[in-house]
Amino acid sequence: MSTPEVLTTVAAFRAALADAVAAHVRRAGSDSDAAPVVALVPTMGALHSGHAALVDAARAEADLVVASLFVNPLQFDDADDYRRYPRTPAADVALLGERGVDLVFAPDVEEMYPGYPDAPLVRVTAGELGGRFEGASRPGHFDGVVTVVTKLFTIAAPPAPARLTAWFGAKDAEQLAIVRRLVLDLNLAVDVRAVPIVRDDDGLALSSRNQRLAAADRPAALRLSATLSTLAARAAAGRPLAVAEARRELAAAEGVELDYLEVVDPTTLRPLELSAPDEDAGGGAGDGVLDREALALVAAHVGPVRLIDTMTLRPTSGEAEE
Ligand code: PAF
Repeated sequence: MSTPEVLTTVAAFRAALADAVAAHVRRAGSDSDAAPVVALVPTMGALHSGHAALVDAARAEADLVVASLFVNPLQFDDADDYRRYPRTPAADVALLGERGVDLVFAPDVEEMYPGYPDAPLVRVTAGELGGRFEGASRPGHFDGVVTVVTKLFTIAAPPAPARLTAWFGAKDAEQLAIVRRLVLDLNLAVDVRAVPIVRDDDGLALSSRNQRLAAADRPAALRLSATLSTLAARAAAGRPLAVAEARRELAAAEGVELDYLEVVDPTTLRPLELSAPDEDAGGGAGDGVLDREALALVAAHVGPVRLIDTMTLRPTSGEAEE
C-alpha cells in the first residue's frame, strides 16, 4: 500500500476529501448508484493492532477511509499525562498506509483550537453521562472527547452524496456509549460503528498506554482482564456475579491500585443492582444473577499507567468454563 496524503489544516483536508470523493464517484461511474461511504477513524496516534483492526473493519465497508491523528489536550485532566502521551507520527502514517487509509488529518493544537489555551470558548458537554467512572476519575475528560469528536465529524463530513461512518473501539465502552448519545442528541450526520477489543495472547487489552508498562507490571495488569473473564463466565453460566467479592480480590491484588469495577447498563452506563444477599458490600437488591446483557467496566493504576478494560456479560442458559 502507498503512503497516504497527510493534511495538517482543516481547509486542505476538506479539499482533499472533496477531491477523493469526486474521483471515487467518477471511477464508479454509472456502475454504481449507491452513495459513497467515507469512514473516519479518529485516533490520538501511537497506533497499535487495535487501531489496525478499526481501520481494517472500516476499509472492509467503506469506499474511502480517512484517519485523524491528534492528541487532544481537552480530554486530559493532567498536564503531565498529556505531555507524556506517546507520539509516533511517522510510524502511525506508515501503519495507516499499510492498511490502505486514503487520507490522514493530522492538525496541530493551534489548527484545532485557534487561540488555545484560551480557546475553544464554545465546547460540547457530555452532561450526566460524562460524570461516571472514567468521567468521575478524570473530570472534564468526556467533555473534551465530545468536543473534539464533534469537530472531527464536522471536518470529515463528506460532500453529498457521500455519507460518513465513524469507527470506535469497544474497549473504551463509556466513550462509545457517550459518542452514540452525542450523535443522537445533536442529530449529527454520522453512523457510529464499534469494533471489538483486540487483546494480546495473554488477554491484556491493547492500549497505547501499554507502551509505558514494564514487564514486571504485566502480571498485575493481567488481573484486570482475568477478573472480567471471571464475571463473563459467571454470567454465561447463570451464576451470581459476586461483583463485590471480585472487587475486593482485585483491590487486594499486588501491584493493582483499583479505581472501579462495575457492572453497568450498556446504554445508560448506570450500575446494575446485582449484589447477592450474602455479599456484605454493594448493597444491591438482586440475587446477583444477570438477566440481561451488561457491561463490566474496570480501571486501575498499574505501575505508572492507568489501565481500563471492559467486557460484555451475556446471560445464557449454557454452561461456561471459569
Ligand atoms: O479514543 C481516542 O483515541 C480518543 O478519545 C478520540 C476518540 C480519538 C478523541 O480524541
